[in-house]
Amino acid sequence: MTASASSEEDFKPLPESEVDHIADLLEPVLQRHLTESLGSRRIAAQELGELTAYWMASATEQFHLLHRRRTGTLPRNLTLLSAEEICRRVLYQPDYAERNLALYNKKADTHLEVLIDKLLLTRSVARVLDIGCGSGQFLKDLREIYGSRAELFGIAPHVSAEADGLDLRLGLAEVLPEDWSNRFDLITCFDASMYFWNQGQAFDEMLRVIAPTGTLFYGTGGIKDSVDFRVLDARSGLSGFKFTGSVGTSVAGKTYTDSLGKWVSNLCAWDAHRAGLLAQGRFKLHGKTFQLTSRETTLDSSTWSNEILQVAGLGDAQQ
Ligand SMILES: C[S@@+](CC[C@H](N)C(=O)[O-])C[C@H]1O[C@@H](n2cnc3c(N)ncnc32)[C@H](O)[C@@H]1O
Repeated sequence: MTASASSEEDFKPLPESEVDHIADLLEPVLQRHLTESLGSRRIAAQELGELTAYWMASATEQFHLLHRRRTGTLPRNLTLLSAEEICRRVLYQPDYAERNLALYNKKADTHLEVLIDKLLLTRSVARVLDIGCGSGQFLKDLREIYGSRAELFGIAPHVSAEADGLDLRLGLAEVLPEDWSNRFDLITCFDASMYFWNQGQAFDEMLRVIAPTGTLFYGTGGIKDSVDFRVLDARSGLSGFKFTGSVGTSVAGKTYTDSLGKWVSNLCAWDAHRAGLLAQGRFKLHGKTFQLTSRETTLDSSTWSNEILQVAGLGDAQQ
C-alpha cells in the first residue's frame, strides 16, 4: 500500500491489542539499545525501565503508527511480518522533510558552516552530532558541503532509513553511547528537547560527549507529550507516583500523578539545574569548563523550544 492509495481505514486508530503487541516486541529491543549505549555505566533498574517505557510509548503513539501505516511502512495486517521486521518498520522511517541547514543557522543565530570552516583550518576532520536529528536533513546538507571532511552523527528514537554517509543511531539523548565521550566539535539539538523524558540528564550527557573546546546549541522547552500514556503508565512502574510543583515555579501547587507526574518533576528539576548553571555562567562538568549563555528566539510560531542555550567548551577543567 502506498500513500496515494490510503483509505479511510488508514486513519482509524490501531486497536489497543495491536499497540500492545508492538510494545511487547519493542521492549527488549529498546532496552538492549539503552544497555549497549550505557556500556560499563550502571543506572537503577527503575530508571532504565522508565526510559524504555518512554521510548516504547513514543514509538506506539497513534500519530506515529498511523503515519507509518499511511506511508505503507506498516501494513494493516501485522501478522504478515516477522517481529524483527515490525520493529524495524516502527523505528526506521521513510525520508521526510525536517529543518535544513539554513533553518538550523537561523536557530543558532550564526552560520554553522563558518564554525566548521574555522575548525578545518587546524584539522582534517570536524565531528558534528545532531541530537533529535529527525530525517537528518541538516546533516545531509553538511554532507553535501563537506563530504569526508566532516564526520556526521545523528541520534533519535526513530531515524531515517536513508542516510548514506551519515552515522544515524537509534537512541535517546538521555543515554548517549559511552564511547562518544569528548568526541564532538559541534552539537546541535533543535526542536527536540520538548519530547525528552529527562532534559537535565540529556543536557549533561551532551556535555559529556562534547570535545573540551566544542560548541553546543540546545533549544530547551517544556513538555510536548507525544506518547501513548496508556503504554507509558502501564510499563514505567510509576503508578502511584505523585508530584506537586513547588512555590515560584509555573506549576506551583499543581499536582500530577503517575508517569506524567514523573515527567513534570524531571522538567522542574531541569528548570532548576538550568537556572543554576545560567546564574554561574561559567561552570565545570565532566572534567571540562564551559561558558553558558541563553537567548530567546521567536522564529517558529510554536513555543515548544524557543530558548536557545549556547555552551562553549573552554577546555579542560584545571584552569
Ligand atoms: C520535531 S522533530 C525535530 C527534528 C530536527 N531536529 C529539526 O529541528 O527539524 C523532533 C525530533 O526529536 C526526536 N526525539 C524525541 N525524543 C527524543 C529523545 N529522548 N532523544 C533524542 N531525540 C528525541 C524525534 O525522534 C525527532 O527526531
